[in-house]
Amino acid sequence: MLISRLILLLLLLIFLSTCSISQAKAKGPYALRISCGSRKDIRSPPTNTLWYKDFAYTGGIPANATRPSYITPPLSTLRYFPLSEGPENCYNINRVPSGHYLVRIFYGLVDDPNFDNEPLFDISVEGTLVDSLAAGWSNEDDEHVFTETIVFLTDGTVSLCFHSTGHGNPAILSIEIQQVNDKAYNFGPLFGKGTILKTVKRFSSGQGRPKFGEDYGGDPWGGDRFFNSLMTFGQSSDKAISVESPIKKSSIAPNFYPQGLYQSALVSTDVEPELTYSMDVEPNSNYSIWLHFAEIDPSITKVGQRVFDILINGDVVFKAVDVVNMSGDVKTALVLNTTVAIDGRTLTINLKPISGSHAIISAFEVFLVLTAEAKTSSAEVSGLQSLKKALQLPHRLGWNGDPCVPRQHPWNGADCRYDGANKRWYIDGLGLDNQGLHGFLPRDVSKLSHLQSINLSGNSIRGTIPPSLGTITTLEILDLSYNFLNGSIPETLGQLHSLQILNLNGNKLYGRVPAALSGRLLHRASFNFTDNAGLCGIPGLRTCGPHLSLGAKVGITIAVFLALLLIVGCSIIWWKRRQNILRAQRLAAREAPYAKKRTQFSRDVQMTIHNQNSRTASEDGPILLS
Ligand SMILES: *[C@@H]1O[C@H](CO)[C@@H](O)[C@H](O)[C@H]1NC(C)=O
Ligand SMILES: *[C@@H]1O[C@H](CO)[C@@H](O)[C@H](O)[C@H]1NC(C)=O
Ligand SMILES: *[C@@H]1O[C@H](CO)[C@@H](O)[C@H](O)[C@H]1NC(C)=O
Ligand SMILES: *[C@@H]1O[C@H](CO)[C@@H](O)[C@H](O)[C@H]1NC(C)=O
Ligand SMILES: *[C@@H]1O[C@H](CO)[C@@H](O)[C@H](O)[C@H]1NC(C)=O
Ligand SMILES: *[C@@H]1O[C@H](CO)[C@@H](O)[C@H](O)[C@H]1NC(C)=O
Ligand SMILES: *[C@@H]1O[C@H](CO)[C@@H](O)[C@H](O)[C@H]1NC(C)=O
Repeated sequence: MLISRLILLLLLLIFLSTCSISQAKAKGPYALRISCGSRKDIRSPPTNTLWYKDFAYTGGIPANATRPSYITPPLSTLRYFPLSEGPENCYNINRVPSGHYLVRIFYGLVDDPNFDNEPLFDISVEGTLVDSLAAGWSNEDDEHVFTETIVFLTDGTVSLCFHSTGHGNPAILSIEIQQVNDKAYNFGPLFGKGTILKTVKRFSSGQGRPKFGEDYGGDPWGGDRFFNSLMTFGQSSDKAISVESPIKKSSIAPNFYPQGLYQSALVSTDVEPELTYSMDVEPNSNYSIWLHFAEIDPSITKVGQRVFDILINGDVVFKAVDVVNMSGDVKTALVLNTTVAIDGRTLTINLKPISGSHAIISAFEVFLVLTAEAKTSSAEVSGLQSLKKALQLPHRLGWNGDPCVPRQHPWNGADCRYDGANKRWYIDGLGLDNQGLHGFLPRDVSKLSHLQSINLSGNSIRGTIPPSLGTITTLEILDLSYNFLNGSIPETLGQLHSLQILNLNGNKLYGRVPAALSGRLLHRASFNFTDNAGLCGIPGLRTCGPHLSLGAKVGITIAVFLALLLIVGCSIIWWKRRQNILRAQRLAAREAPYAKKRTQFSRDVQMTIHNQNSRTASEDGPILLS
């Protein structure tokens, strides 16, 4: 049910992406926006943005949303994912052109007084954990109601997953996938396909209203970024200033910052000449910090009038910044970026004037630099998906998204191992014992070619053991005990030279245990074949009958039948001859010479029968009787 709905969603999204691609060609970057739980496509004010519906195309349950925040897009529905549908639920969107993307997910609250509200859950983008919602997120009027990442998409798809943590049902309001310039936010050597930037803060200083890129009339290649407003850096003496005049060098590649961002600023005053902003961060992480300036203060007209150092956690990262000098003119945009490793829990940005002047800042952005997770080998993912289908895995087990990543949320029952050389995850263990599984074992299980252990003990799995299991040469433990498996043990299992434990007890297997396996028992392997319908051929089990093909059995049956016929026939002949001899003896009493000749002839006939019989018993024997 869930699977079929997910497939439908994929189809829809393929269709949608096709539309968007053709739009993209005409209008610029690729963009896909989804209003979760909506029954129809909708357009939102003030920019008439189009949001596609996902109704009836995915798992989860659509519902009405409350409005937790003033920056929520004006969407009234959401989709939530009860735990009974599994611990991880995903949107998999196909046909997304390779490129650099801003991916944003808004969360919501179900508009129902009986609902256990404010779910806490984890969010992953392309298998990388990008957010863990903390208690209170829905009470804050700021960026906590969404997660935004800037990520490279390289395989034509994007996978967004929501992972339950046991605190309520993940509830998603909207999903936005917007292409940005390939060099956008190039923060230095670590920039590229292996890193993801997670937006932590984006502030536009000196103006009262938070704004999206669209509100600013920003270039679509910049993405529709959200800038919160910051009227003070915390010092009461900060002064907000703004201008209407155009700003040079704004809205240029690669980041296309809107001009409006530079038309306001905060400046320090004599009371407190430094500007200092502190925020809580995750310890032991790298942060990329982007600072925006434009000299819009009419009292500053030339180089050297305003010079300040920029410090992060006390270290000077930019020395003697002179905005007019570095940007080339007044009312001209200047963007500085730096990446810092942070040990502690605080990030402090400090603008420290030199030569008696004041500091100024237009805007700033803070990103957490995340290392993108490698994914699981696609052959193994498809092997697990075959297994999920064939074993009719219950929804509670989930099995959506990537089996191994995010590492914090691997699939239930799948043990993962990272192969650094190939930058891929592999499955080396499958533990689905006592899970109430029905269904059968698919041939495709052999796609899990790195498995060392399989435990499917204590389920209700039917059918035969697939011979393809014999190709998983790494297998050391195979426990299929206590199921309803029938048929015989495939000979191929004898090829598993690493096999140490083989539990097939408690099934309905019959036939001969492959010789290659029974030979191994001597080498301290632990094999259990007891409690089956009729296995044979190793000590402790019954001995096998001759090992014969169907053809041989038919042949033997016919031969036995013919032999019986022959014996009966011979007996009849012998008996008749005996009668004749007796009669002849009685006659011989009167006529001796004739009788002797007759006896000689009869003996010859008997010998002929005997010789032919031993040559081709089943073919020629009966003919002689006629
Ligand atoms: C959602 O809201 C609409 C009107 O705003 C209402 O008609 C509908 O019944 C609501 N749905 C649920 C599930 O509460
Ligand atoms: C950001 O800074 C790095 C070096 O710190 C520099 O290589 C890069 O060009 C800068 N990016 C932009 C877009 O200015
Ligand atoms: C931070 O970046 C440095 C390289 O500049 C890297 O060696 C280090 O592993 C990164 N730390 C984290 C936590 O990502
Ligand atoms: C402007 O900056 C350049 C370096 O970018 C520096 O050499 C020059 O001295 C500066 N001009 C003044 C007047 O400070
Ligand atoms: C497989 O699982 C069963 C049931 O949990 C357990 O008793 C058994 O020891 C496991 N088999 C192996 C080989 O570990
Ligand atoms: C094995 O079990 C399956 C399903 O229970 C059944 O359809 C099949 O006929 C059985 N095969 C044999 C050889 O007993
Ligand atoms: C083999 O399985 C049977 C149950 O089917 C169990 O009673 C027996 O102890 C097992 N033997 C070994 C050696 O584990």
